[in-house]
Amino acid sequence: MEKKNMPVTREEALKVLSAMNQEDADMLHYLETEAVMRALAERFGEDADRWAMLGLLHDVDWAMTKKEQAGHCIRAVEILEGMGFDAEDIGIIQSHGYGCNEIPRLAEKERKEKIEFALAAAETVTGLIYAYALMREKSITGMEVSKLRKKYKDKRFAAGCSREIIGEIEKAGLSLDEFFETAINAISGIKDSIGLK
Ligand SMILES: [Fe+2]
Repeated sequence: MEKKNMPVTREEALKVLSAMNQEDADMLHYLETEAVMRALAERFGEDADRWAMLGLLHDVDWAMTKKEQAGHCIRAVEILEGMGFDAEDIGIIQSHGYGCNEIPRLAEKERKEKIEFALAAAETVTGLIYAYALMREKSITGMEVSKLRKKYKDKRFAAGCSREIIGEIEKAGLSLDEFFETAINAISGIKDSIGLK
């Protein structure tokens, strides 16, 4: 596997994010997405540092676009270019907005690459897992795949988390259960830094 040099360190990426007046819950979402992307890369034998970095920064423009979502994943381009990311990595980050009706410029685009399916599924499953952990008195310890799958099937639970996008993980070559297991383990690994037990 070829490792690609990232233009910033994790600390520098975190600095960029925290300089943007983030809401705490959003920051946790970035850290969770980072952890799930790292775990997926490890599972696939891909470049874990790169997948983690793209997960951490996937919503780099969110603080400035949450009120005008048509610009989400669009304003990111300039920010990421300024940080030194190349077009390939910027494209991967941008692809998590593909198919999103709130972003007219990306609504007709479709994800094609394994890392794109992984990123979209990873950033979406974090919401499902976090919501379920909150129900379990803020605990992720001992969270079972089968019970998370039930929450996934209950469309009213965490209704904002697109089941369709989570399901895209199958296009990356993982079953849903394998994905849930990987994501639960990944988020458990950072539970202390995201306020879970
Ligand atoms: Fe996100």
